Amino acid sequence: MGQDPPREPDTVEAAVAALRAGRLVILPTETVYGLAADAANPAAVAAIYQAKGRPSFNPLIAHVTGLETAQAFARFDARAHALAEAFWPGPLTLVTPILAPERVCDLARAGLDTVAVRAPAHPLAQAVLAGFGGPVVAPSANRSGRPSPTSFADAVDETGFAAAAALDGGACAIGLESTVVAVLDGPVRLLRPGGVTRAQLEAVVGPLAEAENDAGRSPGRLALHYAPDAPVRLDAIEAKPGEVLLGFGAVTDDPGFNLSPSGDLAQAAANLFAYLRAADRRRPTAIVVAPIPDHGLGEAINDRLRRAAGFVG
Ligand code: TXA
Ligand code: MG
Repeated sequence: MGQDPPREPDTVEAAVAALRAGRLVILPTETVYGLAADAANPAAVAAIYQAKGRPSFNPLIAHVTGLETAQAFARFDARAHALAEAFWPGPLTLVTPILAPERVCDLARAGLDTVAVRAPAHPLAQAVLAGFGGPVVAPSANRSGRPSPTSFADAVDETGFAAAAALDGGACAIGLESTVVAVLDGPVRLLRPGGVTRAQLEAVVGPLAEAENDAGRSPGRLALHYAPDAPVRLDAIEAKPGEVLLGFGAVTDDPGFNLSPSGDLAQAAANLFAYLRAADRRRPTAIVVAPIPDHGLGEAINDRLRRAAGFVG
């Protein structure tokens, strides 16, 4: 870090060739950057866990171009179908029963009989998936327990050492991971709030059930998952000396660290992880964060902030 010359981005063709060869790829999506591998190749998937330092019981999301590819290996009931029709390509992940376990290997599913599937909207991700032809697993490209990267430079900084190819898709438009819902037996359950809001989902499938205790099934919900190095304190209205305030709306200190001066939740989501990283680089005694309203995308923002602060969500 620091002295190395910046990494030159690779082409879509180079990324597809790397995936075919069982190597890893830094893949931009509209949510966050992913560290991608052939879902059917256990050795390639093992290399992802190794690069991230991720516990091997944490299952990965299989990325596809769309519904047709997904249905080749996952069972979509009428509700899953309706959700995919409404929000794909986009920031929604559906956990469904696995139909063809060899297409998304056991290691990628952490041995579960379900699979998490998402069709990303980013044109570079779509181009790689179309060129590769099969499902590609990609967790966020951060090392385990660190904030998700939302720029090429941050992604390369985190796990570029492990990637044979890295694509530069610019800054991620959404900046927060996808919403994860389980569409299995019983009501649709919200496992992780994200880029598609609760209200948007409920407009399609009716009221969502809460995941009572899904920590084991969706370990992205564990506390301390998105932590920067500095301690994080929430609902702050000002910074003490040595602290950095991440502002929102009128609660602000340094204009360079206001998540959204106009109080726009989509803008705050897009800035969140990059600002946490930038604040951390100042080596403050604490990163303190202004109150963020809990409606719409605010639910996902506050979920990530509570995890960064070390509270169980
Ligand atoms: O926006 C995103 O979803 C990004 C981009 C790269 O697509 N990916 C991402 O992946 O956030 P990851 O691995 O950091 O988070 C995947 C989440 C985890 O919380 C995991 O536990 C959950 O999905 N998950 C995966 N498979 C699951 C399954 N079969 N059942 C329940 N939860 C599952
Ligand atoms: Mg992650």
